[in-house]
Amino acid sequence: MNAAPRETFMDQILILDFGSQYTQLIARRLRSLRVYCEILPFRTPVEEILSRAPKGIILSGGPSSVYDKDAPVPDPAVLSLGIPVLGICYGMQLIARGMGARVHKASRREYGCSRLRVRGRSVLFGGVPKDLQVWMSHGDEVKAAPHGFRVTAGTPDVPVAAMECPERGLYSVQFHPEVHHTGHGGRILENFARRIAGYKERWTPASFLEGAVAGIKNQVGKGTVICALSGGVDSSVAAVLAHRAVGGQLRCVFVDTGLLRVGDRERMKEVFLKKFRFNLKIVDASKLFLGRLKGVASPEKKRKIIGHAFIEVFEREAEKIKGARFLAQGTLYPDVIESVSVKGPSAVIKSHHNVGGLPAKMGLELVEPLRFLFKDEVRELGRGLKIPEEILMQHPFPGPGLAIRVLGEVTGERLAVLGRADLIMRQEIRSFGWYSKIWQAFCVLLPIRTVGVMGDERSYENVIAVRCVSSVDGMTADWSQLPYELMRRISARIVSEVKGVNRIVYDITSKPPATIEWE
Ligand code: XMP
Repeated sequence: MNAAPRETFMDQILILDFGSQYTQLIARRLRSLRVYCEILPFRTPVEEILSRAPKGIILSGGPSSVYDKDAPVPDPAVLSLGIPVLGICYGMQLIARGMGARVHKASRREYGCSRLRVRGRSVLFGGVPKDLQVWMSHGDEVKAAPHGFRVTAGTPDVPVAAMECPERGLYSVQFHPEVHHTGHGGRILENFARRIAGYKERWTPASFLEGAVAGIKNQVGKGTVICALSGGVDSSVAAVLAHRAVGGQLRCVFVDTGLLRVGDRERMKEVFLKKFRFNLKIVDASKLFLGRLKGVASPEKKRKIIGHAFIEVFEREAEKIKGARFLAQGTLYPDVIESVSVKGPSAVIKSHHNVGGLPAKMGLELVEPLRFLFKDEVRELGRGLKIPEEILMQHPFPGPGLAIRVLGEVTGERLAVLGRADLIMRQEIRSFGWYSKIWQAFCVLLPIRTVGVMGDERSYENVIAVRCVSSVDGMTADWSQLPYELMRRISARIVSEVKGVNRIVYDITSKPPATIEWE
């Protein structure tokens, strides 16, 4: 996580991660308040912390007890660097223990909302009501504040719910200000960052742009950069950024697997060839993919075949680009920090972003200009780069594409049926103004036929299932309650315009227990 070359030295707050499920939320909350911050492993040495000259340090929560045998602890010097520190939950217990107070096992684990009463005046609670709802999730608690500390808030169950020693720059809260259920949590974090730690900038992803462009130039020099451009949000923004930095030294490859949606390939041409004037090679590999998928019905086998074929095609293309030394990828911050902070030092890179073993095999160095950004920030950056909204706000689309939406064996004919139905559904959803209300909307071609009547004749044709879900991150999802009129239009148009389909059904299952895709 900290091996990457840094081109973005700017004022920042550092978050030391002790393993809380909410650590990323602290970062997202601060960044949405226009405070730049980064998450580092809890055991980061003070030398490294000091080299970044952070304005403030936040100790995150975590699942451990400070008395556990292998409880995560920061470098002991962290509390005496003269840099303001905010401890959250486990972070508060670390401060208490570090300052010589005892931490107790609470009589019962507290999890949920509680009422906080703020006592006296505290800069941390400036502009926050005296009585507010907070989110608690802890097993241990501080019974008495350490010497020199003042208790600044309590709840009915936890008398020491916040404490501080401004003289030492140490502040702490037992509750989670980063969690949405805590009222005024953003204000509390902002008070720490701006009023206590003195962070002055108004960071935006756009302010990241210049540094990122300079960083890529610096890393790449006169070298050639290759990029597997899929047309998704991340690879598009990464490529446009890299293009801005090194222009024609960026060589993009778009693999048309034949498993894409109607219009995807045209859009690639429109945006990246015409608008941005990329050096882009479009490789039509649909025959290869379809050939390999022949006779295969198992979802997992399909995925494997497609993954391998993709790497094969891309590698072949990459080898043709003489002198390529770099590979640009749209790796995002959550991929980089995914639990590595506590569990281990190496960065975890999303496997389907990383094009096989290509970097090692070809001796390529990775260029990952988005590796410090969250998804919404990437979209904001993309807007600054004039990438069309249609790309930035598109629904997620799985790597194996329509192959996992043609249930059972994939054939050219069945892909064509699905493609037409899918296009109609997307057109109707857009024209009804529902596209942005849905996380993902798609059609599935079922491997069965049903009976119908068409004019005077009976038909025996395919069934299309329509799946629309709302979700925040794809981990859980609920089916979208589409207006009946929209459903009617989708159904009527598909059965009348797509030959070979005589029945439409709507999927009304949430995830869990179902998944979003059908395969
Ligand atoms: P499920 O179906 O598991 O999907 O609920 C969750 C999200 O992941 C996408 N998905 C994939 N994305 N390769 C991908 O790149 C895959 O093999 C794959 N399978 C599912 C799915 O579209 C949804 O957004």
